[in-house]
Amino acid sequence: MRTLKLGSSGPEVSEVGLGCMGMSSMYGDTDRDESIATIHAALEAGVTLLDTGDFYGQGHNELLINEALRTAPAARREQALISVKFGGQRDPAGAFVGYDASPAAVKNFAAYSLQRLGVDHIDVYRPARLDPKVPVEETVGAIAELVEAGFVRYIGLSEVGAETIRRAAATAPIVDLQIEYSLISRSVEEAILPTTRELGIGITAYGVLSRGLISGHFTRDRKLDARDFRARVPRFQGENLRHNLGLVEALRKIAEQKGVTVAQIAIAWVASRGDDIVPLVGARRRDRLTEALGARDVTLDDFDLAAIERAVPAGAAAGDRYQPSEMAHLDSER
Ligand SMILES: NC(=O)c1ccc[n+]([C@@H]2O[C@H](COP(=O)([O-])OP(=O)(O)OC[C@H]3O[C@@H](n4cnc5c(N)ncnc54)[C@H](OP(=O)(O)O)[C@@H]3O)[C@@H](O)[C@H]2O)c1
Repeated sequence: MRTLKLGSSGPEVSEVGLGCMGMSSMYGDTDRDESIATIHAALEAGVTLLDTGDFYGQGHNELLINEALRTAPAARREQALISVKFGGQRDPAGAFVGYDASPAAVKNFAAYSLQRLGVDHIDVYRPARLDPKVPVEETVGAIAELVEAGFVRYIGLSEVGAETIRRAAATAPIVDLQIEYSLISRSVEEAILPTTRELGIGITAYGVLSRGLISGHFTRDRKLDARDFRARVPRFQGENLRHNLGLVEALRKIAEQKGVTVAQIAIAWVASRGDDIVPLVGARRRDRLTEALGARDVTLDDFDLAAIERAVPAGAAAGDRYQPSEMAHLDSER
């Protein structure tokens, strides 16, 4: 697998990362054995970047990664880099009840993550959101102290806007910004990408399949249970869903002409945006992983890119990517 440097000051990582969130929560039922087999298959294929959050399944996701790494061949385990988000607070039933990125919370969250992951350091550590109560300099400063102490290697950000990125980068070296970026989520292109590029900060792009919506596998009659995050996302509702799946059918025509799948076109499009961008794929089954990794063999020439742009122009999606209360929490959308 090809590797890319994460930002100008970060580590080399596989050109595609594996996002493990869906293996613990957010997208309904999960299968522990298949999740672990998927992580093992990804490591075997040369994926080195595993992304998680301490609040994914309230620690479940970190424990899952711990088990997958413990049972992986030593050579694969040693190559793995773990990116962890913190800050989200949940109650025992899983409801999000608050957010804390204050310096004491940063250190407390990190202490528990290290235990759950069974590692002596976290490779990339990042606040999941900007904490409106805490200046970003204080949050990043606390992570920088963890770097100094050897508990964290690199500092990342998530879903923050250009001004916050500049303030954070003035505090300590930032290797990457994790942010939603896909054919139907392109707001990052306006002010954020020019800023990260100017500052030498990489992008780990999530939601490259818009949480499965533009994977080519999502259908209108799919029932999402109440625990599935997508049951509340505007893009997955009623008329919005009908419209958005129409965009997928336009993409499918292009995919079929190229002899590839819709998911592969969508992932290859994000990868084509630049070598500073590492798509995180949210595969939670081995067959989905194989499909996603197949995107690396898809070359999009100018003709293909123009056809894709016509099929799914910027801003074509109907409905926001989060529900209103969550949109309000996105510094990246201000
Ligand atoms: N920083 C943040 O705020 C943030 C937010 C969200 C996620 N993330 C990170 O980014 C990672 C990826 O995000 P995501 O899961 O929303 O992204 P995604 O890759 O857009 O969506 C993943 C979903 O797409 C469906 N899918 C269908 N075909 C697939 C294929 N070939 N490969 C992969 N998935 C396929 C799967 O659903 P089915 O299994 O139901 O088919 C899967 O659960 C997460 O795991 C998490 O680590 C970060």
